[in-house]
Amino acid sequence: MTRHPVASISDIPDGGRLKVDVAGRSIVVFHVDGAFYALADRCPHQGGPLSQGDQIGELRATVPGQHQYCRRNMIIRCPWHHWEFDIETGQSQIDPARIKVRRFETAVGNAPSCVADDKLAATTFETVKEEGLVYVII
Ligand code: FES
Repeated sequence: MTRHPVASISDIPDGGRLKVDVAGRSIVVFHVDGAFYALADRCPHQGGPLSQGDQIGELRATVPGQHQYCRRNMIIRCPWHHWEFDIETGQSQIDPARIKVRRFETAVGNAPSCVADDKLAATTFETVKEEGLVYVII
């Protein structure tokens, strides 16, 4: 694995992002609350540019009518068909091919966790910040 310097820390303000080309790959580097995350700039659905998507958080509800906005700026929404991915893990938030509206039974339980399916994940890369530079490790 090689560390590739991609930007000065000041090039990507908190809440910002930067598309870079590293070793022949298009990568988008996000800066969220002091940490840097890198995703392939290619949606696993049909290749949409994740660098051009809206950056959002999660809206969760444990009981009806009581919503909580959390994980601010940690979700990227693909601009083509709005699939959403966790910026830290690349994991898809929703699998639209399998999630259906039909549901009758109800129960009290834990809040649902994110879908865990590697086939739906955007590619992630490790990042390091050191001496004013951001590195992507490939
Ligand atoms: S290409 Fe990203 S959701 Fe379709």
